Amino acid sequence: MPHLLSPLSFAGLRLRNRIAMPPMWSGKATPEGFVTPAIVEYHRVRAAAGTALVIVEHSFVHPQGRHSATQLGVHSDACVAGLSELAGAIRREGAVACLQISHAGSRASSTLTGLPVLAPSAIPNIREAQPGLPTPLTSAHVAEVVAAFADAARRARRAGFDAVEIHAAHGFLLSQFLSPLTNHRDDEYGGDHERRSRLAIEVLGGVKQAVGPGYPVFVRLGVHDERPGGLTLAPACWTAAHLAAGGAALIDVSGGLSGSDDPGRGPGYFVEYAEAVKSATGVPVLVAGGISDPKMADIVVRSGRSDLVGIGRAMLEDPEWARHAAEALAQA
Ligand SMILES: Cc1cc2nc3c(=O)[nH]c(=O)nc-3n(C[C@H](O)[C@H](O)[C@H](O)COP(=O)(O)O)c2cc1C
Repeated sequence: MPHLLSPLSFAGLRLRNRIAMPPMWSGKATPEGFVTPAIVEYHRVRAAAGTALVIVEHSFVHPQGRHSATQLGVHSDACVAGLSELAGAIRREGAVACLQISHAGSRASSTLTGLPVLAPSAIPNIREAQPGLPTPLTSAHVAEVVAAFADAARRARRAGFDAVEIHAAHGFLLSQFLSPLTNHRDDEYGGDHERRSRLAIEVLGGVKQAVGPGYPVFVRLGVHDERPGGLTLAPACWTAAHLAAGGAALIDVSGGLSGSDDPGRGPGYFVEYAEAVKSATGVPVLVAGGISDPKMADIVVRSGRSDLVGIGRAMLEDPEWARHAAEALAQA
């Protein structure tokens, strides 16, 4: 029976255990969005502690989809040299290196980007205060977004990352398309759940085409908005199954339209969603959300509810979490 310290092989990757560092914005990139030594160290130390999979913080694929002034970028070829140092540092410590690629949609700031804020529909973002309403994406914008994700994935691969993760959670652009609260379109990208899923599925297709069939592509999927009238688990499982059929190697299960905070269920608050997505897709799943106790992480894997466990804030607090977890479980 697999447990937290068992290795896992899938999609050509070999993970030394089931512990993942989920993507966590560090606020340490340069104003151009380039990697800094502090970003390399932030990820390297957690890899060196024995973490099996390090998913690097959300990185903007297009200047218009930039979320903050200190966000990492993968929007231009000039980013590749720094990203290559970052991927190399993680891999040399024995971890699998993955880069999360993202477009913020209406969570971008026009003050920062100097460009109009894009969204599925002209609905103000529930989290970020913006002057005026966002501009609904035209079909030209949609094509530009798909191409930007594809180019970003190509760069991540060139930089030496083992995998990329498409960000489709937490109220960023692809999550805004998935949510009935933020997508009021009546074209082929809105109107029912199947059409609201279309952009995420097209982005995955564009990325897969860019990196080739053998390169692992993960999707971080927000499977529940945790808001009345929002996206719920059953339709999200339909999307997850289509993403898996479209070549997603892993679904990183999350939720929340304005972030991934605990909706009130306590530690492991997204585990029940991971279990549902795992049975709907048949691909490996990862889940984070309030898990800090190694015994609990171990039980999540042993129970078969998730293949991998993401340790976010607990790993920020203790960069050596993976080493300490292995020691604690060995003594148990
Ligand atoms: C400081 C911080 C930055 C985060 N940045 C990202 C991010 O870049 N991309 C993302 O998908 N989630 C991000 N998250 C969410 C985490 O990946 C994770 O899902 C969440 O913190 C819940 O897990 P935890 O309870 O183990 O911390 C961030 C969370 C924190 C605390």
